[in-house]
Amino acid sequence: MEKKDPEIITEKGLMRNWSRSMRAQGKTIGLVPTMGYLHQGHISLIKEARKHTDLLVVSIYVNPGQFSPNEDLSTYPSDFQGDIDKLMALPGGVDVVFHPYDLYDYRNNGSESGENDTSKIFDAKDEDGREKAVVSCIEERQSGHETWIRVERLEKGLCGKSRPVFFRGVATVVAKLFNIVEPDVAVFGKKDYQQWRIICRMVRDLDFPINVIGSEIVREDDGLAMSSRNVHLSTEEREKALSISMSLSRAKIAAQNGQVSCRELQNSVIQAIQEAGGKVDYAEIIGQENLEAVEEIKIPVVFCVAAWFGKVRLIDNMEIDMRVM
Ligand code: PAJ
Repeated sequence: MEKKDPEIITEKGLMRNWSRSMRAQGKTIGLVPTMGYLHQGHISLIKEARKHTDLLVVSIYVNPGQFSPNEDLSTYPSDFQGDIDKLMALPGGVDVVFHPYDLYDYRNNGSESGENDTSKIFDAKDEDGREKAVVSCIEERQSGHETWIRVERLEKGLCGKSRPVFFRGVATVVAKLFNIVEPDVAVFGKKDYQQWRIICRMVRDLDFPINVIGSEIVREDDGLAMSSRNVHLSTEEREKALSISMSLSRAKIAAQNGQVSCRELQNSVIQAIQEAGGKVDYAEIIGQENLEAVEEIKIPVVFCVAAWFGKVRLIDNMEIDMRVM
């Protein structure tokens, strides 16, 4: 296949015009939303999307709306030119890189006075159990944005417990991208399992005419799930972080060999991660569709883990389905 430079579009109006003119020519459009610093996990989504549509848009946008002020927005890794080089090297390339600067820029028509400050709407507990207000960076900047999409039940558990503004930020920016790019197909990684399910539910509930595809997790050779955040791990932390994927694999094998008690499986994973020096945020076995906790593995489940190694929070999961063994 020929190699080609992607067209780089930075304005939302131009992006929408491009999509509409392509649609008018009868072309179908795929979208892969990312925050950049692309790795093989992202590339696998792009390859998956290529199978389904004529044209492909990759968005690169570090969304301030999904970070709390105490999170890693300022240190989130980026390498835009490196990303473009990786996309150009792909067989077939991508057609457009949508790299917006004006997603939350409403030309100062927001509340300047702060009268409608909605910033302290979430309360969460800090590590010592004290209440602390959690605000989103979008609100801190008073950009005038005050509309949020909440997928109310699915966003509550797992990552939603420790990151209370995360999923409304994700759902909102993805809805904005869907409205601007108007894709036929959008591909998300199962690495962020809860995120993928939340987007599927949003698309269903809000009648977006988009086919959302979940794509398998891509791992390093030693099993570590690929993530843009892995770059922040020291060599030692990276080694210890392997305890996540290794203990999940052992739990999956144990379950397939008949150990169906979720409490025991969860405890074994928590113990392995703690022994390696990690701090477990959660280790939960939940239904694949409804993300609700189960006591015994009778339906298709997914074992989801989040754990800290040093200053890096990693997530991983494994699907366990007794019907396909
Ligand atoms: P980001 O972390 O850049 O991830 C973009 C997409 O790549 C997500 O769908 C994620 O699940 C997928 N992905 C990341 N690592 C993967 C891996 N190892 N294997 C397979 N897929 C992987 O997720 C986001 O950005 C943002 O929340 C976003 C959806 C772009 C909204 O801002």
